Amino acid sequence: MFEHDNEVTNKSGNRPFEDIFQASMSRRHLITRSAGLSAAAFLATLAGNKGLGQVATAATTEGAGAASTFSGTAIAQATSSLINFAPVPFDISFGPVPNISDDYQYDVLIPWGTSIQPGGPEYTGNPNTRPTSAQQAQQVGIGHDGMWFFPFEGSNTHGMLCINHEFGTNPHVLGKAAPTSLEDVKVSQHAHGVSVVEIKKVGGKWDRVASNNARRIHVNTPVEFSGPAAGHPLLANTANNEPKGTVNNCANGYTPWGTYLTCEENFNGYFGSTEGATFNDNRTEAQQRYGFDFDGFNYGWELFDPRFDLSNPSYANEQHRFGWVVEIDPNDPSKKPVKRTALGRFKHEGIAVTIGRGGRAVGYMGDDQRFDYCYKFVSSTNWQAAIRRGLSPLDSGKLYVAKFNENGTGNWLELTIRNPVLAANFSDQGEIMIFARLAADLLGATPMDRPEWTTVAKDGSIFWALTNNSQRTATGPGSPLAPNPDGHILRMVDSNRHIGTTFTWTIPFIAADTHPAKDKTTYSDPDGLWADSDGRLFIQTDGGQQRLVNGTQTNNQLLVADPATGEICRLFSGVTGDEITGIAVTPDRKTMFINTQHPGNGDPAASNFPVANNPADPNGPIPRDCTIVITKKDGGIIGS
Ligand code: FEO
Ligand code: CA
Ligand code: CA
Ligand code: CA
Repeated sequence: MFEHDNEVTNKSGNRPFEDIFQASMSRRHLITRSAGLSAAAFLATLAGNKGLGQVATAATTEGAGAASTFSGTAIAQATSSLINFAPVPFDISFGPVPNISDDYQYDVLIPWGTSIQPGGPEYTGNPNTRPTSAQQAQQVGIGHDGMWFFPFEGSNTHGMLCINHEFGTNPHVLGKAAPTSLEDVKVSQHAHGVSVVEIKKVGGKWDRVASNNARRIHVNTPVEFSGPAAGHPLLANTANNEPKGTVNNCANGYTPWGTYLTCEENFNGYFGSTEGATFNDNRTEAQQRYGFDFDGFNYGWELFDPRFDLSNPSYANEQHRFGWVVEIDPNDPSKKPVKRTALGRFKHEGIAVTIGRGGRAVGYMGDDQRFDYCYKFVSSTNWQAAIRRGLSPLDSGKLYVAKFNENGTGNWLELTIRNPVLAANFSDQGEIMIFARLAADLLGATPMDRPEWTTVAKDGSIFWALTNNSQRTATGPGSPLAPNPDGHILRMVDSNRHIGTTFTWTIPFIAADTHPAKDKTTYSDPDGLWADSDGRLFIQTDGGQQRLVNGTQTNNQLLVADPATGEICRLFSGVTGDEITGIAVTPDRKTMFINTQHPGNGDPAASNFPVANNPADPNGPIPRDCTIVITKKDGGIIGS
């Protein structure tokens, strides 16, 4: 999607792979050898992939798994009993409308512009009109991304859906390249953020329904800070600016205590400088490391909203107020969203929460930029004990960054003021959290190929999507290809039931390996990941599917993989120009929700989806981001 995901701001010189990686270690050698290592070190724990109610009661199932016989793609694909559906063929997985397996069906839910309450203002894609800011604040936003379904009492047909709205360009949202008023800026701001909608299946079809809990959270919604950086001078009001807003809400997480986590990714791009290009000459080290720039991603918010003007001293701290993981209670609209600073400030892709030894809450998090890092948070106490005392398990704990070693092991390095190296560079723990990237640089973390989603599988292993890195010039631990235009998936086995400081790693899937076949397995740029409680791994893609082979392309897609056999099978392919992202299920896993983000890149000549015109009508409706509801025709579990 964003060109800007591809920038490199890490100038730390942490390219440890260039120092320690053995040039003789071939990709295949790495895969085979590491697979053996990790099997020996196997630990199982609660996967963060169960229905909400199940998670809360299953917090001590650690150790249930036996050693894995994991082998990844290094062996030939075997028939998997987990995956038994007809694939979407490679050669039809392109065009202005989606394609789904013949064994499945899909429906469309909450496109951009849907009123979050029945009877409210609706926008249906008319290219000649756009929502006003007041309307957009009552409507589902654009840029559908991470999401989760919170069932009412385990219901498979009724609950709250929280959904991220990552981004929408000015031409797409406003119909022009730049805002010309504060009203324009507010339209854009209200199209970002999170929607909390109540959805229900009635007469076989899901729809949003009237709700006391439904709400929009956007760039102007009051929020609060908690954890080690709360109250820090770098987050303090500098004008009459109480903390407000969340932006570039990419992927997500969900907690055993029933809350939603939305992750702020490319927040830097919404800031700019009214000084113009000379601003760049005087940027601080931190501003450069976080990618702040005089014109950002050309949203132009700074022209009318001083909060986003990096050169306005009255709003000097706004830049520190984004880049966090934000907790939302889907069932209590009276609670402000809370920015959990113990999880650090970086370009948060998503967070996979699981339960570690002693009932600690553990979260695995990627920082999605070329040569940025993998992180882990471990709560200081048992999560249930914290909740009983009215505390958040996410407010107190240890934040680690990953260092991958060439021998298939790795170390978690703690970002703590007790480390003399960090104490020499930061004044307190809060400042370390605010500048987590800089602290991680100093610790010697391993630069990765754009860490996107993470997921914890039923056997306790953690999968990381490394989406691509065309600028990598040397292979290294965790990064088997240089350059790496198509991405790979890394499997990590953590120690001491997720709370230890060592891990092992292997590379089970390399996207480019699927290209020669041009079949049901072929994909590029893994991004969304979700492991179900049977052992399936769902892979969603965002990127250069068109690079596949000699101009033969696919749209972005949802695939189902079985890491135990290496099998991969395409379940769904999206709309031209889109990205497939976001994944949620009902407790019975017989309904899955995914998203198409920026279908047709907002161009009606490319697609009118979800209005069904095939071929696309250039004078027809603007294609709109929407949620796709997937069911199996035989009523089976999704992925089977
Ligand atoms: Fe928002 Fe890294 O994708
Ligand atoms: Ca995206
Ligand atoms: Ca993503
Ligand atoms: Ca991506």
